[in-house]
Amino acid sequence: PVTRDLAGRTVVVSAGPTREYLDPVRFISNPSSGKMGFAVAEEARDRGASVVLVTGPVTLPDPQGVTTVRIESALELRDAVVSAAQGADIVVMTAAVADYRAADQATEKQAKVAGDVTIHLTPNPDILAQLGADKGNRVLVGFAMETHAGVERAAAKATRKNADFILLNYPTREGTAFGGDDNQVTLVRPDGTHEDWPRVSKREVARRLLDEAVRGLRPSAPQ
Ligand code: C5P
Repeated sequence: PVTRDLAGRTVVVSAGPTREYLDPVRFISNPSSGKMGFAVAEEARDRGASVVLVTGPVTLPDPQGVTTVRIESALELRDAVVSAAQGADIVVMTAAVADYRAADQATEKQAKVAGDVTIHLTPNPDILAQLGADKGNRVLVGFAMETHAGVERAAAKATRKNADFILLNYPTREGTAFGGDDNQVTLVRPDGTHEDWPRVSKREVARRLLDEAVRGLRPSAPQ
C-alpha cells in the first residue's frame, strides 16, 4: 500500500535542463532528460502531496495530477520556482541549471563571420542558494554531479546553499544520471555524513529521497 505521508503537503520540483539563448535560434544547454525530477513529482503526488513541477525543455509529457510549468531559461526557472516555493513544504531542485547565460542576448540571428568568435557569458543566479537564504520551514533538497572529490564538494555545497541534503550522482556511470532510467547516488548532508545508495530506478531514488525529506518536515498545522 502507498503511504499518504505527504497528504496536505506541497512539494515543488524542478527538472530538466535550462536553455540560455545566444540569439533566437542558438542556445547553451545540457543533456538532462528530466526523468529524475518527473519521478520525484510522480512519487510525491502518489503519496498525497499537491505538486508543482517546473521543467525545462524535455520530451516527457505532463504527469497526470501534477501542476506542470514549462520554462526555458534559468531566469524563468528561478521566477517559477521561487513563486511556487512560497507555500511549499519541500523543494527538490533536480534541474540542471546552466551556470551561465549570454550577457547580451541578440534579438536577431547572428551571421557567421570569418575566424573565431568570443561569447560573453554572465553567471546565472543560484536558485537553490537563494531558496536556502530564505528557507523558512521548508525542506530543501539539491542534486550535484561531480567527477571527483564528490562527497566533500557536495557537503560544502549543501552547507553553502543551506540545503538539508544533496544527492550526489556521477556523470560517467553506465545506465545512470543523464538520460538513464536508473540512478546511483550518494546522500550527502551538510556535516559531511553520507550514505551510498545502490543503483536503483529513478522512481526508487525518488521514494528514498522523499522518505528522507519527510523526516525533516515540521508537524503540519492542525486542519
Ligand atoms: O553548484 P551546482 O550546480 O553543482 O549545484 C547543484 C544544485 O544546485 C542542484 O540542485 C541544482 O538544481 C541547483 N542549482 C540552482 N541554481 C543554479 C545552479 C544549480 O538551483 N544556478
